[in-house]
Amino acid sequence: MDQTVSPARAINGIVTLPGDKSISHRYGMIASLAEGPSTIANYATGADCQSTLKCMEALGAKVERREDGTTVIEGGELREPKDALDAGNSGTITRMLTGILAGQSFTSRMIGDESVSGRPVDRVVKPLAQMGASIEARDGRFPPLVIHGRPLHGIEYTPPVASAQVKSCVLLAGLFASGETVVNESVRTRDHTEIALREFGAEIDVLNKTIRLQGLQNDGRKLTGRELVVPGDLSSACFFLVAALLMKDADLVIHGVGLNPTRSALLDFLVSAGAQIRVVNIQQVAGEVLGDLRVTTSRVRGGLIEGALTAALIDELPALAVLGAASEDGLTVRNAAELRVKETDRIATIAEGLRRMGVKIETVPDGFTIPGKQRFHAAEIDSSGDHRIAMAFSVAALAADGPCIIRDASAAAVSYPAFFDTLQQIAKG
Ligand code: S3P
Repeated sequence: MDQTVSPARAINGIVTLPGDKSISHRYGMIASLAEGPSTIANYATGADCQSTLKCMEALGAKVERREDGTTVIEGGELREPKDALDAGNSGTITRMLTGILAGQSFTSRMIGDESVSGRPVDRVVKPLAQMGASIEARDGRFPPLVIHGRPLHGIEYTPPVASAQVKSCVLLAGLFASGETVVNESVRTRDHTEIALREFGAEIDVLNKTIRLQGLQNDGRKLTGRELVVPGDLSSACFFLVAALLMKDADLVIHGVGLNPTRSALLDFLVSAGAQIRVVNIQQVAGEVLGDLRVTTSRVRGGLIEGALTAALIDELPALAVLGAASEDGLTVRNAAELRVKETDRIATIAEGLRRMGVKIETVPDGFTIPGKQRFHAAEIDSSGDHRIAMAFSVAALAADGPCIIRDASAAAVSYPAFFDTLQQIAKG
């Protein structure tokens, strides 16, 4: 589906967002390992997190999607799936679920769409092999995967790339391993897995950037079902924050957004660049922090994103690139080679979309530089099937000098099926 997005003069209103994608994946998987029901409010509606539920159902979990929007998962021991598990578009599933499957007593196969089939999994196959796993990957690097469940033992591991998925994979495998599993992070990444594992009853300790998890078999411990609420997705909120920051007239409230400190670098970056964003009604639910955001008309300077900040903003970079072009000083991003192995090569797809809109950008292997004070010209932009590219350029289109067409805009449904409805509600022509 293509989508026409017309220029807007203002952004205002009140929105609530679908549940956080990262947290939903984790609740979906861990609830399926827990005894007794878990009741999850605001589980992500996007296709990716629905793929998680389908995979977990195929592995024996009972999943009920209730009319009131809650998802109830009854977990326990997993069983051998009849067919290949389908990760769809989700790299997170291929990496994290493989950790769970490596220590089961059966063999499973995992497939995914064309994008997932080109995304590296050797980053998880290597540490899992050290734990005793037996996994076959295409060319040793890519899905499809065949995971022969084996008894595992704990290891101490330092991921060579800053990746929450790799950390999470090793920890989830560690649940089914003998002894202790230790992950040392050189760059701190999102800690939703650690928080969720503790909430479900695992024995896990975090000291600075070292995480220690005891295998469930060590003391016969079991995970138990919980009542949970998934905070709104800050990475989705980012598109609306950027939309507001592009407008001369903006006043937007976003309710119940996840503010976990390992995710909220976005807000620090925007505020330090001049964005008027206030955070109110902060609360904590099941170890995760959430609150309401209010963004009003601002002048944004832009800046430099590199090092650990790049890892902390990795999913927000497509939207920030759009903001960077309109900012006073422009935006430079470095140390972002990981962008090349996301749903698309996002350095390439960001550059392609911006250039189509007449915006200058210089790319390097691990990032880009976008001069500031640029204007967006009406254009046709292809999402290349990447949800964040579809949403980032829809937001750029609001600031363009005429209507834009976003090709394959339905990709947005991977994380945010109602994105265009909400955008239409808040964008005033
Ligand atoms: C995610 C981690 C990040 C992020 C992805 C979701 C997660 O990937 O880009 O969208 O839920 O753990 P990496 O672990 O590959 O950095």
